Amino acid sequence: MSLPAPSDRAFVPFVSVANMMALIHHVGLEQMIVEMAAYIEADFKRWPLFDKTPRVASHSTEGVIELMPTSDGDHYAFKYVNGHPRNTRDGLQTVTAFGLLADVATGYPMLLSEMTMLTAIRTAATSGLVGRHLAPKGARVMAMIGNGAQSEFQCLAFKALCGIDTVRLYDTDPKATAKAIGNLHGSGLTLIPCSNPQEACEGAQIITTCTADKQFATILTDNMIGAGVHINAIGGDCPGKTELHRDILMRSDIFVEFPPQTRIEGEIQQLGDDHPVTEVWQVMCGEAPGRRDAAQITLFDSVGFAVEDFSALRYVRDRLHGTALFDQLDMLADPDDPRDLFGMLHRATPS
Ligand SMILES: NC(=O)c1ccc[n+]([C@@H]2O[C@H](COP(=O)([O-])OP(=O)(O)OC[C@H]3O[C@@H](n4cnc5c(N)ncnc54)[C@H](O)[C@@H]3O)[C@@H](O)[C@H]2O)c1
Repeated sequence: MSLPAPSDRAFVPFVSVANMMALIHHVGLEQMIVEMAAYIEADFKRWPLFDKTPRVASHSTEGVIELMPTSDGDHYAFKYVNGHPRNTRDGLQTVTAFGLLADVATGYPMLLSEMTMLTAIRTAATSGLVGRHLAPKGARVMAMIGNGAQSEFQCLAFKALCGIDTVRLYDTDPKATAKAIGNLHGSGLTLIPCSNPQEACEGAQIITTCTADKQFATILTDNMIGAGVHINAIGGDCPGKTELHRDILMRSDIFVEFPPQTRIEGEIQQLGDDHPVTEVWQVMCGEAPGRRDAAQITLFDSVGFAVEDFSALRYVRDRLHGTALFDQLDMLADPDDPRDLFGMLHRATPS
């Protein structure tokens, strides 16, 4: 049986992991982080017009699977993402993701993409962008606690967006620290392995926590946090999963993405529902102050929000222009007569 070839409308550009890696190398990782941060900032500056909802989470004893949808009225995006802290013991990643960008006017998908690489880059771009607004001026040294899959991306984002030149690394597993130092060799960063979190925080103006544990953990205690630091807390992003001692939260000015989601998932789940927080989009729009003085402790209680993934997909769609770094997936049934889906199936009957 010979079937008519699908029309152009049937195809959706698909970015595989191999093509995503090729695109990252084509642009350059640090350049991509900087460019993606600009897309995220542009979208945060038009925050009120996005559809926003806390992500839809399906929890299990091993981890969580989440759907993250949003729309700006012209485009719609969602990401599928998991978080399974014990996966690495079986050779699997803690976080994997893919996502889709669609045209609101027709509902037709416009781009399907791997988002495991992309999530690491968008998370790093968001952290660095927020750091640029909140970290002390002239910050040069960052503590990087948790040296897993996200960590190198975080280090390069703070180098590219905030100008750090030194990272003090700590992980409960020294092999993870050795891996990160090996990967960052030649990046221009001075890399210092540390034997405990306290040592990692010494002399750091920025502290990033990026550990994975499905429980309330205390990665940082109050005594480690000096006046004036910026804390970029990435790893606490699920109910019952936090990284910071509550006393640190009480001394910090707390900045969040979307309060209804962060109050469920972030460090602030340890606090009352009315504890004051500032939304980072307000700082970017100049509607709320960021860092006010040199002694203030600022905390970005990051959980990752759908608008960041929307921005990342929008960026990839734009960046694909003029490249061949995608495949055309025959993903949408496209009958000649749009109401004759059955006829399309019928004509495809094997003879
Ligand atoms: N906020 C966001 O937008 C965002 C985005 C992506 C991932 N995350 C979260 O970031 C965390 C890290 O993700 P990943 O992909 O790098 O995970 P990963 O499993 O690859 O790495 C986590 C690292 O943390 C280390 N670790 C665990 N407990 C520790 C402790 N007490 N002290 C120091 N190190 C410790 C582990 O040994 C491991 O090397 C996860 O919890 C993930 O859910 C958040």
